[in-house]
Amino acid sequence: MRCSRQGPSLLVRAPGKLNLFLEVLGRRQDGFHELETLMISVRLYDLLRFTPASAGCLELECSSLSRSTATIPAGEQNLVMRAARLLQTECAPRQGVRIWLDKRIPAEAGMGGGSSDAAATLVALNLLWNLGLDSAALHALAARLGSDVNFFLDSAPAAVCTGRGEQIAPIPLGGRFHFVVVKPPSGLSTKRVFQAWSDNPDRPACGIQDAAQAASRGGSRQLSRVLYNSLEVSARRLNDDVAWWLNRLRDMDVWGSGMTGSGSACYAMCRSARQARILAQRCRGWQRGQVFAVSSGV
Ligand code: C5P
Repeated sequence: MRCSRQGPSLLVRAPGKLNLFLEVLGRRQDGFHELETLMISVRLYDLLRFTPASAGCLELECSSLSRSTATIPAGEQNLVMRAARLLQTECAPRQGVRIWLDKRIPAEAGMGGGSSDAAATLVALNLLWNLGLDSAALHALAARLGSDVNFFLDSAPAAVCTGRGEQIAPIPLGGRFHFVVVKPPSGLSTKRVFQAWSDNPDRPACGIQDAAQAASRGGSRQLSRVLYNSLEVSARRLNDDVAWWLNRLRDMDVWGSGMTGSGSACYAMCRSARQARILAQRCRGWQRGQVFAVSSGV
């Protein structure tokens, strides 16, 4: 994420993510699933503005470029509000803030938009309210908000994430990678996709360490060989558009394709930024959801 000052306000650009490798290892006693995943940041951003307000005040205003904000939780349900409320309750009862959020990352897509917004809120309010929380303290709060929030706190280009996803080992990314990302009209609930997961015999060709090595040292060819997602089977079953898009993307002349997180967004890993733009244009022609040409980066 990128933070900048604008008068009394703080502006933050919160990136999205793609999971290029995601293996579910099993269901845990606490209801979550143990997983190993390779996440990368992508340059599709939500924008947030934080302005100091009178003591105790917490306000959130949302806008969106896409046709509907219906899938963005409003009020206290929004992860931004939950992050601000958590920080205020735990560390800053006398502080207040007005937050404006411009959503560009699609919701219910598996791109981590809500989690990235929550991480941005923790970082921005730590600065705005002069709380002086260190990285460990912020990570502890992030893990209470959701499994993907920790990844975004470090602003790493990529990371291996384990546990329920909240244990982060940042890694460098060996180059810039280019993608077409498609988000079908209907989203998928993370909870439902995990519930529908069953330990299927379809195992990945390689493990998380191979995936991490390909990301940090390899080029596109090596990275394309490790693309994998255990949740694809259940997502395809729950959402016909996921299956439709995965078939379309697989038939393109690209390095590889797959689904991110618990879906419903799918991606194709392209040979160049130019190819990503051209294919994005072709995908828009099918009028079956939102389409983005994005590259890796924070
Ligand atoms: O952690 P987060 O709030 O993003 O998770 C949403 C839901 O997804 C959880 O309530 C849980 O049902 C499911 N989940 C899971 N295993 C994970 C992450 C999420 O079962 N590792």
